[in-house]
Amino acid sequence: MGSYLETAVEIAREAGALLTTFLERRIPFEIKGENDLVTEADRASERLIVERLRTHFPSHGIVAEEGGGHESPSAYRWYVDPLDGTTNFAHSFPFFNVTMGLEVSGDLVAGVIFDPAHDELFTVERGAGSYLNNRRIRVSKADKLENALVSTGFPSRKRHLGVNIHFYHQLGMATHGVRRTGSAAIDLAYVACGRMEAFWEFGLKPWDMAAGRLLVAEAGGKCSGMHGEEHELLGPDLLADNGLIHDEILGLFAEIFRGEYRVPIPSI
Ligand code: IPD
Ligand code: CA
Ligand code: CA
Repeated sequence: MGSYLETAVEIAREAGALLTTFLERRIPFEIKGENDLVTEADRASERLIVERLRTHFPSHGIVAEEGGGHESPSAYRWYVDPLDGTTNFAHSFPFFNVTMGLEVSGDLVAGVIFDPAHDELFTVERGAGSYLNNRRIRVSKADKLENALVSTGFPSRKRHLGVNIHFYHQLGMATHGVRRTGSAAIDLAYVACGRMEAFWEFGLKPWDMAAGRLLVAEAGGKCSGMHGEEHELLGPDLLADNGLIHDEILGLFAEIFRGEYRVPIPSI
């Protein structure tokens, strides 16, 4: 394992342990924006991660969700989500993680997603594959949407403007079901290790996707925008899957974008 990844793993484990102590103490949460929960834990975890990254890699840039990052002209940039799945965390619903992705000159090269509640560590390095607790992982081999388990997410901000309910309904009808874990990085990790075939979401941020996108790619999967265009890390949209059902999903998405619904939403 390269030293960047090794260090990121150490830091993610330390931040994960910190989050666990907050969870055990049931720290109250506050509202940042509309329905956007920010816990003390988000900030404490970010402080820890940024401090450690700056100690190990003082010249690197850091883009962190809670604003504690560090701008730099360096080609190296870390994307940090100190607590992905805050709403789950605030309710003691055990699906959250610490995630960090490293970009060099615009290319993702390494990433970590640590889920302390399940003691699952997902790691990836460009060209060296994806791993769960040090075991190589690969995307699933299901090649039909009708045999797929998929997942999506709904951003907490401006929820009333979201169009995803249409996609949720159509994908729910076309697959074994749609999960909503409340943690985008875990969704991506689960696609990478074959627990689910696909994940999509409108309105993601780079720290939600950086590690997970590389993890899916190195596990043999595929990522793109919602129309099949090359995926843009700065977001906001992402479709990630095992590659075998990518075109089928894009076909279904295209119908939905045109307002053609295979199965209409029933009226009450
Ligand atoms: C959120 C989670 C959620 C996704 C949201 C993200 P946060 O991240 O990943 O699953 O649906 O779009 O913002 O706010 O818990 O770090
Ligand atoms: Ca997040
Ligand atoms: Ca977060």
